[in-house]
Amino acid sequence: MPGTTAPRTYRDAVTTAVCPGSFDPFTLGHLDVVRRARALFDDVVVGVAKNAGKSGLLPLETRVALIRTALAADPATEGVRAEVVPGLLVDFCREVGAVAVVKGLRGGADFDAEVPMALMNRHLSGIETVFVCGDPAYAHVASSMVKDVARHGGVIEDLVPAGVAEVVRAALSATTEER
Ligand code: PNS
Repeated sequence: MPGTTAPRTYRDAVTTAVCPGSFDPFTLGHLDVVRRARALFDDVVVGVAKNAGKSGLLPLETRVALIRTALAADPATEGVRAEVVPGLLVDFCREVGAVAVVKGLRGGADFDAEVPMALMNRHLSGIETVFVCGDPAYAHVASSMVKDVARHGGVIEDLVPAGVAEVVRAALSATTEER
């Protein structure tokens, strides 16, 4: 109508999404999810956050540095950046102007774990979570298992982006563990 302004929708502006996770360490499965998010949204920020239910191996800044290296080497993630999430994920999303959180699902167990988080984040701020199914080739790849394989001397190079395996092994050998 003349003289009126069309209502704003998300599509009027660049749409930003946050791909959050603990990424301890970032795996090829995570990279696959970030690529899928990048195909859906104009702007993607990988948010590295603390998961209160998990004990961490790598410092958050190290995780971010490894992710940045992996993203820089992958043309399918052009423009994607990685940052530490210093507090609540919803506050970070507000700060970067994200309209959605993107999470990958490997199967039903992931769905069961993710739904309460998605509902809590929506309760806190109204933000929606978009779930994408990861490549089944990575359905068995989890950061916890990658660390366990490495801890026992197994090969993890084909499960993580270049450079990650060495950093994980160094961190494991610096950690005092019961043997
Ligand atoms: O890779 P993960 O461990 O499944 O990711 C979970 C993560 C880190 C995204 C979640 O624990 C989180 O958002 N942490 C930041 C603090 C926060 O916002 N907590 C409330 C989430 S419902």
